[in-house]
Amino acid sequence: MKKELGLGLYSLAGVYGRKDPEEIKRMLIYAVENGIEYFDVADQYGPAEEVLGSTLQAYRSRIRIATKVGVTKEGFDLSYNHIQKACRQSLKKLQTDYIDLYQIHFDDHTIPVAETVGALEDLQKEGLILEYGLGHLPLQRVKDYAKEGNPASLLLELSPVALQKYREYLPVCQEYKLPVITMGTTGRGILTGKIPPDHGFEPGDIRNLDPLFQRSLYQSALRVYTKLKELAEQLNKSPVQLTLAWVLGLAHVRTALVGPSRVAHLQENLGGTGWEIPGETGSEMETFLAREEEKKKEARYNDIQEILQGPLSRDRKRAAADLVYALEGLVDFGIATEPEVVPLFTRLMACYRHKETDNTAGEIKDKLVDLFAQGTTRETRV
Ligand SMILES: NC(=O)c1ccc[n+]([C@@H]2O[C@H](COP(=O)([O-])OP(=O)(O)OC[C@H]3O[C@@H](n4cnc5c(N)ncnc54)[C@H](OP(=O)(O)O)[C@@H]3O)[C@@H](O)[C@H]2O)c1
Repeated sequence: MKKELGLGLYSLAGVYGRKDPEEIKRMLIYAVENGIEYFDVADQYGPAEEVLGSTLQAYRSRIRIATKVGVTKEGFDLSYNHIQKACRQSLKKLQTDYIDLYQIHFDDHTIPVAETVGALEDLQKEGLILEYGLGHLPLQRVKDYAKEGNPASLLLELSPVALQKYREYLPVCQEYKLPVITMGTTGRGILTGKIPPDHGFEPGDIRNLDPLFQRSLYQSALRVYTKLKELAEQLNKSPVQLTLAWVLGLAHVRTALVGPSRVAHLQENLGGTGWEIPGETGSEMETFLAREEEKKKEARYNDIQEILQGPLSRDRKRAAADLVYALEGLVDFGIATEPEVVPLFTRLMACYRHKETDNTAGEIKDKLVDLFAQGTTRETRV
C-alpha cells in the first residue's frame, strides 16, 4: 500500500480562526507541485470545494479529490435522494465530472445502511464517484457498512495524542481490509509546538471547546509534545515531522491528512514523509506513549467526575467546554453510546452558538449525570 500525506481544507470552514484564502490557494499549488496527490474537503467546509476546484482545475488529472456527504444545516441526512442531489452539487462546486472518494461524513441512524449504500453504488455506476468511504461513524456502523457494501477507506482521528479510535477500530480495518485515512494528525496543531501553553483561540475556533485542549488531556498532550521534541532533535527533524512519519508507519494507515493554511507549514509537514523512524527511537516513542495513555486515562476519568459532581462554571465558554469534555469522555470510556450523546452535543452547540444559557447547559449536565450513573452501574468502565 502506497503511503502518502494528504492535504485537507477544513480550515476554510473557519474552525481554526481567520485564514487568508489567497495563501491557501498558493499552498494548494505548492502542494501539487511538491508531490501531494490527495486532497480532502467536504460540502460543509465553507467554500473549500469551490476553492479546491477552481485552484487545481488545471491539475485535475494529477490529483485525487475526496469530499463528504451527510451533514446538512438541519442535521444529518444519508437518504438516497439527499446523497444523489448533494453529489451533483459537489461536482459542480469542484468543477469536475467525478469525485475520487465520496465519504459518509457522519452517521444518520434514521436511514438504513442499505439505502445509503444503494445511493453510493448508483453514483459509482454512473461514474460520478470512483469509490466511497466512511467517516465519523460508531464502530458497529462501520461493520454494518463493510458487510453491506464495499467501502474503500475509513477516516479516523489519529495522532500520538489521540490513539484511542485507532486502537478500537483497527481489528475491523484488518477484518475488512479498510485502509485508514487519518485526521487531527498534528493534534490540531499541538504537536507543531506553535501553540502557546496559555492558548487563547479566536472566538469560533473549535479548539476553544475541543477536549484535547482542556484539562488533563491538554497536559498530557504537552508532555507528549515535549518527548517528541527531544526525540525529533536527535534525528534532526521537527516534532511534527516525527509525528507524521510515525503515523504513516502505523499498520493500515494509507493517508495522513494535514490541515495547515500556510505554505511554510505545509513545507514543514512534507518533511514528515520519505523517511523511516530508526527502530530504537520508534521503541522509545512507543513505550513513552503507552505509559502516557495509562496516566491520561486515570486523570481524565477524575476530570469527568469532577465536572459532573461539581457546579457548572459560570463562564459560558468554560461550562460548554467542560460539558463537551464529559460527553466525549463518557463515550470513550464506554459509559454512554454515541446515539445517546450526539443529540445532547447538537443541542449544546446550538445553545452555545446562539448564546443561550445556563438552563440548557444545566439540563444537559443532568442528563450526563444520569448516563454516568447508569453506565457505571453497568460496569462498563474501560
Ligand atoms: N479535524 C477534524 O475534525 C476533521 C474531521 C474530518 C476530516 N478532517 C480532514 O482532515 C484534515 C486535517 O485535519 P486537521 O484539520 O485536524 O489538521 P491538523 O493539521 O492536525 O490541524 C490543523 C491545525 O494545525 C496547524 N498546523 C498544521 N501543520 C502545522 C505546522 N507545520 N506548523 C504550525 N501549525 C501547523 C494549522 O495551523 P495553520 O492554519 O496556521 O497552518 C491548524 O491550526 C482537515 O483539513 C480535513 O480535510 C478533519
